[in-house]
Amino acid sequence: MKKNQNNGFILIVDDNPTNLSVLCEALNSEGFRFRVAVDGESAIAQAERNQPELILLDVQMPGIDGFETCCRLKANPITQNIPIIFTTALADTESKTKGFSLGAVDYIPKPFAQEEVISRVRVHLQLKQLTESLEQQVSDRTKALQKAQVKLVQQEKLSTLGELIAGIGHEINNPINFISSNISPLQGYIAAITELLLLYEQEYPNPTAKITTAIEDLDLNFVLEDMGKILNSLQLGSERIRNISNSLRNFCRSDRDTKISADLHQGLDSTLMILQHRFKANGARPRIEVIKNYGVLPEVKCYIGLMNQVFMNILANAVDAVDEAITQGKMSNLIPQINIATEIDFEELIVIRIADNGIGIPERLKKRLFEPLFSTKPVGKGTGLGLAIAYEIVVEKHEGVLDVNSQPDMGTEFIIKIPT
Ligand SMILES: Nc1ncnc2c1ncn2[C@@H]1O[C@H](COP(=O)(O)OP(=O)(O)OP(=O)(O)O)[C@@H](O)[C@H]1O
Ligand SMILES: [Mg+2]
Repeated sequence: MKKNQNNGFILIVDDNPTNLSVLCEALNSEGFRFRVAVDGESAIAQAERNQPELILLDVQMPGIDGFETCCRLKANPITQNIPIIFTTALADTESKTKGFSLGAVDYIPKPFAQEEVISRVRVHLQLKQLTESLEQQVSDRTKALQKAQVKLVQQEKLSTLGELIAGIGHEINNPINFISSNISPLQGYIAAITELLLLYEQEYPNPTAKITTAIEDLDLNFVLEDMGKILNSLQLGSERIRNISNSLRNFCRSDRDTKISADLHQGLDSTLMILQHRFKANGARPRIEVIKNYGVLPEVKCYIGLMNQVFMNILANAVDAVDEAITQGKMSNLIPQINIATEIDFEELIVIRIADNGIGIPERLKKRLFEPLFSTKPVGKGTGLGLAIAYEIVVEKHEGVLDVNSQPDMGTEFIIKIPT
């Protein structure tokens, strides 16, 4: 006896013992597994309990007939996808047509010819399996496409945002140069005017009453002193704006197509500069201390704009993790900290560790971190793409490694390794 491969069974529904025994024998001879029901109601109950691969359904039965049974099976989501083959008398064209219109896939004429029963059953089992595997493939592909689409949209967003930021960085650059390059001559002029005033005072120690009053009204000594301070703060301020503008431009270096030699420390610093506002004290949370332990790194050929995105995502998560620890009251005696350490390891890989002392990650969630759309953050706060994108950039684009160590309530360390 040949053993048929499918694991399911065929449900035969017929009230006539002779028909049943012919069908059973035919199926049995080919190694098909089958069960039997002698009326429509019990067939439906059985099919709901254990879905058969295929149903051979007699039309004329006591109680509800085959058509009604078929209708009910097709109306029930649990049983609607099970193929139904009617068994009907050869001459009965009307029944055949009605059967098809109710959703049957085929009919087998009575009296049964064993070969025909086997062939039709086999064809429909195969069709069902093919359909199922196609459906599975379509669903797998759809999921993969959705993931890819989400990533593309996000990257597109980042790159548009990146261009915008780079543009702003560039636009700020001109006016700020304009301001800072004029501060120095202004300081010179003011020093010269101050000297001239002092000279006047020396040469004309007794000014007119009008001038004396004006000097007093103005509080000349205070103004002269304060002017120097104002100029110094202008200089400091413009220096800071210039740094920010440089960071913005560095952060967004568009290098999607080719790797370039880059200074990863500069990348980290630009990213820190851009994230600065997030480290500041915020509600119940004190300022986050950022501790840098930079080793000596060579310039690395990489997509530095993308690497900055990785730093950005991991650092932003670190801030969120610290915030969450404070919110949950798990950090009362600790200063929130983010440690950034870099080194070159014995395999000549560049290693960047970014560690926080925030909420940590439970063991069971660790393997899901890099899945697109996996997030434990409230809707609107996290999209769950940060680490998926970071993973793709480090592992796929740079052939590197992205690892995580974490202990719940203690903190988390992300380790990025890329080849030199
Ligand atoms: N440093 C960390 N400490 C604790 N949990 C973390 C840390 N980094 C990531 N996680 C966990 O991993 C999840 C996925 O992070 P991921 O950056 O991919 O998405 P997200 O931060 O939720 O959303 P977004 O797309 O805005 O980045 C987070 O929701 C969080 O649960
Ligand atoms: Mg994130």
